[in-house]
Amino acid sequence: MDLIPAPWRIGGNEGGRVRLDDRTRLEAGPGTEGVARWLRTTVGAATGLPFPEHGDSEGPLRLAVDPGLPPEGYRLSLHGPGRLIEGGSAAGVFWGAQTFRQLLGPDAFRRAPLRPGRVWDLPEVTVEDRPRFRWRGLMLDVARHFTPKDGVLRHLDLMAAHKLNVFHFHLTDDQGWRIEIKRHPRLTEVGSWRARTKFGHRTSPLWDEKPHGGHYTQDDIREIVAYAAERHITVVPEIDVPGHSQAAIAAYPELGNTDVVDTTRLSVWDTWGVNPNVLAPTDDTLRFYEGVFEEVLGLFPADAAQFSAFIHVGGDECPKDQWRRSPAAQARIRELGLADEDALQSWFVRHFDTWLSARGRRLIGWDEILEGGLAEGAAVSSWRGYAGGIAAARAGHDVVMCPEQQVYLDHRQHDGPDEPVPIGYVRTLEDVYRFEPVPAEFTPGETAHVLGTQANLWTEVTEDQARVDYQAFPRLAAFAEVAWSALPVPAERDFAGFERRMEAHYGRLDALGVGYRPPGGPRPWQRRPGVLGRPVDGPPPSR
Ligand code: ACM
Repeated sequence: MDLIPAPWRIGGNEGGRVRLDDRTRLEAGPGTEGVARWLRTTVGAATGLPFPEHGDSEGPLRLAVDPGLPPEGYRLSLHGPGRLIEGGSAAGVFWGAQTFRQLLGPDAFRRAPLRPGRVWDLPEVTVEDRPRFRWRGLMLDVARHFTPKDGVLRHLDLMAAHKLNVFHFHLTDDQGWRIEIKRHPRLTEVGSWRARTKFGHRTSPLWDEKPHGGHYTQDDIREIVAYAAERHITVVPEIDVPGHSQAAIAAYPELGNTDVVDTTRLSVWDTWGVNPNVLAPTDDTLRFYEGVFEEVLGLFPADAAQFSAFIHVGGDECPKDQWRRSPAAQARIRELGLADEDALQSWFVRHFDTWLSARGRRLIGWDEILEGGLAEGAAVSSWRGYAGGIAAARAGHDVVMCPEQQVYLDHRQHDGPDEPVPIGYVRTLEDVYRFEPVPAEFTPGETAHVLGTQANLWTEVTEDQARVDYQAFPRLAAFAEVAWSALPVPAERDFAGFERRMEAHYGRLDALGVGYRPPGGPRPWQRRPGVLGRPVDGPPPSR
């Protein structure tokens, strides 16, 4: 049946089929109304099946919550007149509905039926399923290249189709500020666009000489969060401090280290790399960002969803040169009795750790935030390999494993000359399929701190949807299986079997309009001849 991600258990009645037609009723038990809505609007649109609430049919499709199942687990049973999707919670029922859609075939991934009056049939099966990890994430960088709102909603649909449930929304960086903050309007008026953009890796001589930008209004954000929630996806916003802040400084020059740089001359950054212009460690900066976070907390409420308390504060790649040269920063270090600039960064992050905790929220940051010690409850995104995640778990912190060597989807997926703007490590579909999020040496106690895993997609060299699709797919399908399915140790994983199932999955991706990398290599229009990337065998990548 070629399901992706592979379910825990599947049993069938060889050759048996279950029919659905326009009289097939949808019976939604308490708590499953949202799943019924999704089935009608999405699967209904693709198939033309109206799923009426009333009417006669040989057997309804029933949705029910069964608290005896694991929270995100489900049981899907299709047998003659019995068609039932039960989940441990509404989320479980929703993941079961995703499997149901895959069983209908690739045309169920379109937006309208190809022929009127088609009778739909599915194999007689029972699928029992449950996720391996609770946090099955995708990070999308909308700062380096903006993804318009429709594109974000499309990503949420693609995530749902792969049973991924955390959307890490990288909203701010040196190259753009993407979220409306009412009390600081220049963040988007000035900070959300740049006059031109480096085309290719930063060593490329090419420029795209056109303005680039965009931002989400607060209502856009509310819509995105609600759309995600309807799909049982939690959106975790990232506001990056104290580095990766040039766009904010361009909008409000007083946020920068004004005693060592003329920040009034800074504009939103138009090229790539680690930027020296970081926030000044002043009280005014802290108050400014508390104001930002207050609005962010209102837009991303902590509700019943399991990871909705999390706010990501970045914390990565903060060069200390300006703080070393800044008399104000040095005075701050002395006044706080800190050892050095690294301790100052840690003080900065801890300030927001305490501030968020006091509001019932949890801080998460890139693994650099571990360096000065963290408050209880804070969690770490381990990106510089496994080391940060190992140290975090051993110190009693929760971790999300997203090592750049394995699951940075902006990195090239083949070593051939035709890969568009190839950067970073070569990480093939098979490499991603064999990624193991939990370090082999972990004790059960340490393993319990692994919330899950996440693939990250930075967008310096992916300027539009087609390029993002190419980098994300098909590898995101392999990643989804790593995050969801109970796979054996990497060496024993059946990659050939996964590739076979991918043949059906490419049909689903085609129906969804995803511009994936075909197994044989890029199509002519997916190449970017002459645009420089970064060598394969170079030092560990830094953007
Ligand atoms: C990162 O890749 N700088 C988190």
